[in-house]
Amino acid sequence: MTFLITGATGDVGSRVADLLLERGDRPRVFVRDLNKARTRFGDRVDFAQGDLSDAASLPAALHGVDALFLVNIGPEIPARDQAAAHAAQSAGVRRIVKLSSMDVEQGLAIGAWHERGEAAIRASKIPFVFVQPTGFMSNLLAWSHSIRSEGVVRSSTGNGRRAFIHSADIAAVAVAALTTDDYLGQSLPITGPEAVSFPEVTERIAAAIDRPLRFEAISDAEALSRFSATGASAAEVDAHIALWRAIREDRLAGVTSNVERILGRPPLSLDQWISENTAAFR
Ligand SMILES: NC(=O)c1ccc[n+]([C@@H]2O[C@H](COP(=O)([O-])OP(=O)(O)OC[C@H]3O[C@@H](n4cnc5c(N)ncnc54)[C@H](OP(=O)(O)O)[C@@H]3O)[C@@H](O)[C@H]2O)c1
Repeated sequence: MTFLITGATGDVGSRVADLLLERGDRPRVFVRDLNKARTRFGDRVDFAQGDLSDAASLPAALHGVDALFLVNIGPEIPARDQAAAHAAQSAGVRRIVKLSSMDVEQGLAIGAWHERGEAAIRASKIPFVFVQPTGFMSNLLAWSHSIRSEGVVRSSTGNGRRAFIHSADIAAVAVAALTTDDYLGQSLPITGPEAVSFPEVTERIAAAIDRPLRFEAISDAEALSRFSATGASAAEVDAHIALWRAIREDRLAGVTSNVERILGRPPLSLDQWISENTAAFR
């Protein structure tokens, strides 16, 4: 099979490409920056240069492709998923595995963008699998600066919990969806093993780096002002504030058994992720 992997310079997509390489496949990666991709993969993969915002760059990249791993980010997810599905249909692609979000079940914030992207893929009639992770453990790297410089984590998520998932598990589920027929037509909501509050995560990082850390619950207004200062668009800011509020209300704390069902082993733990990433917090 010929696989086209988008998002291949990112967190999940790069791991998907690695796992396909480990299986003995030679994936094609769809990237904006060839140099960045060559630094990551050397000559072990095939390259297609393009941009998911530029539909004209898709047909050549999709030529001869059997299965597409689709990663879109941001408010343009619905339009870009639709354009990719349309190009995939024209190219005769037989499967799309979309990196979606477990938050589609709430139709909330970023999950609402993914919900519309999923609808566009369903409408294309191409057999699909929607891989729907909850919050990534790797999001916690966003705390590294304030932890290192001030010993503080600030968040508007209060005591709400999230069953953070390791990116390696997301990628492994995606590869199962790409390489077997077992999950065709299915949505796969996937989580880590336990729902944990953000103050609890802060304590665990503190224990791992052997340094006291303080969790500071901030208001939606303060979170908005801080996130706006990062240069995020208004739509992204609004989506994140709504997401963090829903977490605070403990509406996104679900745990599923799908990682274990699909991979035949328990999901990787938060403690393992922290131990792999202590250098980022020291
Ligand atoms: N973080 C979470 O907690 C969470 C939870 C559920 C779902 N998700 C979903 O997971 C996805 C993000 O996955 P990730 O963390 O693996 O991504 P990531 O690390 O942020 O990487 C994004 C990838 O997409 C590529 N990309 C961005 N814009 C592009 C464009 N216009 N054309 C082609 N490629 C483009 C980037 O390429 P460059 O290297 O060129 O920038 C990069 O390879 C999003 O759909 C998000 O909604 C995230």
